[in-house]
Amino acid sequence: MGLFSCRNIGIFWSCIILGVSYFLYTPVPDGFAEPWKLRTVLASFKVVGLLGAISEKLGYDSSLNVTRKLAKLALGSEIFSKNDPELEVKDTLFDGVPVRIYKPVNIKTPAAGLVFYHGGGWVMLSVDTYDIFTSFLAKKANIIVISVEYRLAPEHPFPIPFDDCVTATLHLLQNSEKYGVDPTRVAIGGDSAGGNLAAAVSQRLAIEPESFVSKPKLQLLIYPCLQATDFNLPSYLQNNGMGGALTKRMMIRFWMNYIGLKNVSVDDYYFFNNFHTTSFVKQSEYGAYTNVKLLPANIQNQALKFENRDEDTNYELAAKIEDTILNPYFAPLMAQDLSKAPPAYIMNAEFDVLRDDGLLYGERLRQAGVRVHEHNVRHAFHGFITPIGPSETLRYKLGLKVLDEICQYLKRKL
Ligand SMILES: *[C@@H]1O[C@H](CO)[C@@H](O)[C@H](O)[C@H]1NC(C)=O
Ligand SMILES: *[C@@H]1O[C@H](CO)[C@@H](O)[C@H](O)[C@H]1NC(C)=O
Repeated sequence: MGLFSCRNIGIFWSCIILGVSYFLYTPVPDGFAEPWKLRTVLASFKVVGLLGAISEKLGYDSSLNVTRKLAKLALGSEIFSKNDPELEVKDTLFDGVPVRIYKPVNIKTPAAGLVFYHGGGWVMLSVDTYDIFTSFLAKKANIIVISVEYRLAPEHPFPIPFDDCVTATLHLLQNSEKYGVDPTRVAIGGDSAGGNLAAAVSQRLAIEPESFVSKPKLQLLIYPCLQATDFNLPSYLQNNGMGGALTKRMMIRFWMNYIGLKNVSVDDYYFFNNFHTTSFVKQSEYGAYTNVKLLPANIQNQALKFENRDEDTNYELAAKIEDTILNPYFAPLMAQDLSKAPPAYIMNAEFDVLRDDGLLYGERLRQAGVRVHEHNVRHAFHGFITPIGPSETLRYKLGLKVLDEICQYLKRKL
């Protein structure tokens, strides 16, 4: 019998199919909402990751650029809002920063507004890939949404993305009449890295003189990332690899790109173990801002123990990044005084490595006397609220439900 007999070919293909299924299958722990949709998304992450790695090996393009292009292809190749009869959509510049304005056609002006910063780890995604999401917000909450195309890291590291967001937001607040927006009814918001930017811009605008600009009425933080000093908070330890929607490694890479650190793979071991900050910082007020004692008791009780071995600190790295990671415009949880921040809506997902960033920020805001509406969503994971494609079948039902609640909240509060 020859090597290429039917039987061998059958075995060959069975092995390939089994191998591919094994590669694509990600176990999702019990309790996750809509596990099969999540598995589909995670499988596509794996394919994108593999294509990126191959492309980088072949010297064709960086894995990040491949990821960006594939995300654009999957999510932003068609701008649905431009043909939406319920919306008037306009691309323009706010002091040089590109924005897209979504205005419901029947809205009475001056209307409430939301300045929105998209997620994507500061390194990818765009106004286009968020088009379905921002259209939905505008229509459902009946508000004018301004989606900001801030520049991305690592080509444009901190503070460039943050500065772009500040510039665009100030432009709206100072020229609100021109856009039909009531400056006293403006919220700023974002998800994930966009939630980081929304919290940071909220802090930045809080120091603007009252006479110069009217302050945002509300900050909307959807599973935000808010600190880069402690990568071993309970949520990082409990949820790393859980479902894999956002892993600790991915989050560390995002932060490193946002800092503008090159040589990413060389350094992430230090971040993994919190060897990227000194014991001086850990014992300072900055360390206190990530103290697990600020978290709800049930989380403190279940927290896995993480031991900090200070002798392994990378002092050179720590010195290089310290100013940045303690800067509250980079990591909003590092702010000393939060009392002037606007009221906050914070949504945290149960199975998210970032859950405790949001919980800590909520607690710190409350302690500073700021009103906080905290929405902790059980069974949810990072990214569950944003559409994962134009097709309805690939939407998470839980995400649509929570998004609807957010829209009702915005309607009530603005
Ligand atoms: C992505 O591609 C652009 C254009 O070719 C290039 O300027 C940029 O450096 C690339 N970025 C990364 C992270 O590879
Ligand atoms: C980057 O990595 C290379 C080799 O891995 C090393 O020689 C170089 O010093 C590193 N640069 C920085 C800025 O860490």
